[in-house]
Amino acid sequence: MTRQVFRGTVFHLLGDPDQGADAAVIHEDGALLVEDGHVVEAGTWIDIQPQVKGAPVERFPDGLIVPGFIDCHVHFPQVDMMASPGDHLLHWLSAYAFPAESRFHHEDVAAETARFFLDQLLANGTTSALVFATAHKVSAEALFAEAFRRNMRLITGKVLMDVGAPAGISDTAETGYMESRALIRDWHGKGRLGYAVTPRFALTSSERQLELAGRLVADHPGVKLHTHLSENVEEVEAVHRLYPECPDYLGVYEKFGLVSPHSVFAHCLHLTASEWVRMGKSGANIAFCPTSNLFLGSGLFNLKAAETAGVRVGLGTDVGAGTSLSLLATMNEAYKVCQLQKRHTTAFKLFYLATLGAARTLRLDDKIGNFVSGKEADFLVLDVKTLPLAKRRWEHTTTFAERLFALAMLGDDRAVARTYVAGKCVHERDKSKNINAAARPKHTEEWDDL
Ligand code: GUN
Ligand code: ZN
Repeated sequence: MTRQVFRGTVFHLLGDPDQGADAAVIHEDGALLVEDGHVVEAGTWIDIQPQVKGAPVERFPDGLIVPGFIDCHVHFPQVDMMASPGDHLLHWLSAYAFPAESRFHHEDVAAETARFFLDQLLANGTTSALVFATAHKVSAEALFAEAFRRNMRLITGKVLMDVGAPAGISDTAETGYMESRALIRDWHGKGRLGYAVTPRFALTSSERQLELAGRLVADHPGVKLHTHLSENVEEVEAVHRLYPECPDYLGVYEKFGLVSPHSVFAHCLHLTASEWVRMGKSGANIAFCPTSNLFLGSGLFNLKAAETAGVRVGLGTDVGAGTSLSLLATMNEAYKVCQLQKRHTTAFKLFYLATLGAARTLRLDDKIGNFVSGKEADFLVLDVKTLPLAKRRWEHTTTFAERLFALAMLGDDRAVARTYVAGKCVHERDKSKNINAAARPKHTEEWDDL
């Protein structure tokens, strides 16, 4: 039995802060008690102290201990082409995303990128994610293997894509089905991993492939369905032309049995009133990806419409169309997207969308998302020591909510002092290296010494 104590300001959410003023829990002089990688209790230091019983206490006098961030939609093979200036989604895909993904048939490329990507997630305080791989089976295998090694709660799947894309990044309906089945058998439920059946979107899968995707999710309860929906106006029009018999874009996924509480749809920017109602009734979930939506000029996500329809929403970075892996930077853009639509969001709500709200979106809120007793102890320590602007701003705040909001607007990976996965420290900023990182070439270590 390993007991650990982490002392600092503790903040987490027990529910949607817009639905109850007591959802936000703040212990200014607080502590998190962890045993065997699970939360025993989060409380005030006074309450936790009698339970310490000789366990080591790590002290973070200036630190804010929060649940690990959860990225509801991100593409790991796109880290090498992010920040490529595409015209709009369909042009950007063929000019940048598809060529970058074509390298992932190579096991070494997939393995090295998976390592880099997960190092970056942890450095950004992201402990869980729902991730797109490529159509190559080895790309999903590489990410699973690397996430397993780090004991991360991560969901991914090989992309299904049998039409409308170059041969080097495509599969066939049959190979996509067989490879997905093999990956589910080998990885779903192993450690903290989960599988997502991942048709890229309606324009790159044949009807046969979408039908087989429906069969995969029907045959494997608990496996997710992860895809894009209604991101871009030209994309929506092309889907209408391809499926004139369907009432709308969502109707295409409904036709193939792909809409359920285990489905996560990235974007959902141009849904009709009927699609919103059906999304709510189905229990399907949305990844809200503000940096990507602004970068590609795709549109503004309507958080109010999602809430009215009762749809669960979590934040996604959507790298490489997204411009940062930081969920703090993503909160910043989410705030602005909502402001433009007169939907004011608080810091509590923004943190909710990156923690408990995201866990609910992935239907993992029985395991992660806050510090309720028994949950897995994924958490991070935030501080403003290395952010001069935020530090200065904090000196001029009076309330916790003000400090949290400034952190959401001004923060990024520099604010992440430590990241813990199941109670184990996996990133330590001030040692200026990720403790998971493989040995790096000499020249990068020389830079570290400067
Ligand atoms: N729609 C289909 N594929 C993609 C992708 O790779 N990125 C984004 N943002 N949208 C997509
Ligand atoms: Zn995406």
